[in-house]
Amino acid sequence: MNANDHLAVECIDVHREFQDGSRIIRVLQGTNLSVKKGEFVAIVGASGSGKTTLLNLIGGLDTPTSGRIFVDGLEITNLDDEGISAIRRHKVGMMFQDQYLLPIFTALENVEVPMLLDNIPTTKRREKAIELLSLVGIDHRAQHMPHELSGGMRSRVALARALANSPAVLLCDEPTGDLDHVIGGEIIMLMKRLAKENNRAIIVVTHDPEVAKMTDKILLLRDGILVEELVADFFKPSGVDIEVAREKFKAEEEGTAPQE
Ligand SMILES: Nc1ncnc2c1ncn2[C@@H]1O[C@H](COP(=O)(O)OP(=O)(O)O)[C@@H](O)[C@H]1O
Ligand SMILES: [Mg+2]
Repeated sequence: MNANDHLAVECIDVHREFQDGSRIIRVLQGTNLSVKKGEFVAIVGASGSGKTTLLNLIGGLDTPTSGRIFVDGLEITNLDDEGISAIRRHKVGMMFQDQYLLPIFTALENVEVPMLLDNIPTTKRREKAIELLSLVGIDHRAQHMPHELSGGMRSRVALARALANSPAVLLCDEPTGDLDHVIGGEIIMLMKRLAKENNRAIIVVTHDPEVAKMTDKILLLRDGILVEELVADFFKPSGVDIEVAREKFKAEEEGTAPQE
């Protein structure tokens, strides 16, 4: 067990390598991450830096080459298949950009699927699905098929589905990728509320500065490790050297700045 019970997610010195023919691709190279319950964290980083790989590891869809991962206080890196699938069913909710809503089912049924597979009785399952659709503001479209919904609406359904098993941790991989800023912003506000009200940890991978700005903390994945990114750096206007500006402010504060 893990001593840090207040942590929803903890990654300790996680490595993930892939074998590509005779070549080894070292993606994660000693990644550490702690996310508290109720915390809303953004992970940013260049394409191919390993963001999806990391979410897959936390979600139990993949196993690290080495290192330890804890979810809601339980170490998942030493569980057997049954243990991992229990974690996936009960502790983690996942939401992806391309959503994978099942096209042959209605919005309501899509939200019901995880509970159906978890053998939750019909009435209880349906009630919960309607409650979740209403929570994300899309209950009026419960009987619509995915193709009858806009991108923003499908994202809401995907969010409701990810919450179906009341997960301690919600993992979102570029959830607003193909949405405009207004709709994307609304969904992120909603997530933020869900994190705070339910003491749930949310990790969102994003390319969108507007999204990252709304979270509690921005982490940058670079060279296989996560570093805390100052919001100011992430939004650095081009041509402005933040380090130079920071040094100048510091020198002024300390009274060592050259006088005019
Ligand atoms: N199953 C896999 N087999 C081989 N290489 C992989 C596999 N999954 C990811 N990779 C490689 O790992 C790197 C990181 O991928 P990914 O986590 O998808 O990055 P990101 O989500 O940050 O764009 C990429 O170079 C990718 O090609
Ligand atoms: Mg990715």
